[in-house]
Amino acid sequence: MSEEFVLDVRDLRTSFLTNKGVVRAVNGVDIAVPPGKIVGLVGESGCGKSMTAKSVMGLVPYPGRVESGSIRLDGRELVGLKDKELRKICGNDVSMIFQEPMTSLNPVLKVGRQVREVLLKHKKAKDKDDAKSQVLEMFERVGIPEAGQRYDAYPHELSGGLRQRVMIAMAMVCHPKLLIADEPTTALDVTIEAQILDLMKKLCEEEGMSVLIITHNMGVVAEICDYVYVMYAGRIVESAPVFDLFDHTEHPYTRGLLLSIPRMTGNPEFLSTIPGVVPNMLHLKEGCAFSNRCAHASDRCRRETPGIAEVREGHACRCFLHEQKGC
Ligand SMILES: Nc1ncnc2c1ncn2[C@@H]1O[C@H](COP(=O)(O)OP(=O)(O)OP(=O)(O)O)[C@@H](O)[C@H]1O
Ligand SMILES: [Mg+2]
Repeated sequence: MSEEFVLDVRDLRTSFLTNKGVVRAVNGVDIAVPPGKIVGLVGESGCGKSMTAKSVMGLVPYPGRVESGSIRLDGRELVGLKDKELRKICGNDVSMIFQEPMTSLNPVLKVGRQVREVLLKHKKAKDKDDAKSQVLEMFERVGIPEAGQRYDAYPHELSGGLRQRVMIAMAMVCHPKLLIADEPTTALDVTIEAQILDLMKKLCEEEGMSVLIITHNMGVVAEICDYVYVMYAGRIVESAPVFDLFDHTEHPYTRGLLLSIPRMTGNPEFLSTIPGVVPNMLHLKEGCAFSNRCAHASDRCRRETPGIAEVREGHACRCFLHEQKGC
């Protein structure tokens, strides 16, 4: 039976046991990525986006751990698997582009060879020559100029932007079923960013690759995502098809995020920001985590935590305002 989703995350809880208490970085998250689609995960710094991605890959750093929930990859449950079993299942089918690219490249190996090794390890090339030509092709596709020379460079000989492109090439060269991309283009200039986003889209359309992309950039979301999850303080607060999210924004937090996008038209002095800061995840109180920053918050919002509810087909929101609207 074919699965409806390549990645299906349900009620995921990932926490850090620190000497000050339990930090609930991911607090009951549901995310589903259908085959061949690009799904965005957005939200302010510290809200738990990277920890959600790292939970899927089994890479939550100590003292963090996945406490409960389900992560199904093509129907196979990953939570509870031993590291070795997880590597085996994820190894061939999932690639991740990390937010910190330098930590993922070996400083003493030439970059071309590092990417070539990935292909050989996953048996996606006939021999070393075939692997090298696939690497060079991918280097060109991700916008690495003079790919032949760059193949023999060490990571420290490349600029930050080029190292990031090497990481992107490494993640895509094996043509994974699922690509998890954590802020993949933040360090790149806009022309290269556009080229990489185009390439991701192409691999989705041509090969049925699925992407979970984490970004701060709502422009990137508008450009490539089919569906979007908005995360706040460890929880999903709104999820919708991309156009529905922009045209019929439901959650006050999402509205704030969208209003804070700089625009070419209008007075930049009036660029909105959301007042206040993300709450401390160590001492999350009962009630809506956004209530201290929300212009619409009532006593109930400060007292009770709203559940997530469907407001129309495919569009869900975690806010009491909808009950008032009669949804
Ligand atoms: N080593 C750690 N010890 C304790 N808490 C941690 C640790 N690493 C992360 N956290 C907690 O997990 C929360 C989520 O972190 P995460 O890296 O997922 O945020 P993010 O949404 O990816 O932010 P950014 O946009 O800045 O990358 C943080 O707010 C922090 O409180
Ligand atoms: Mg992050």
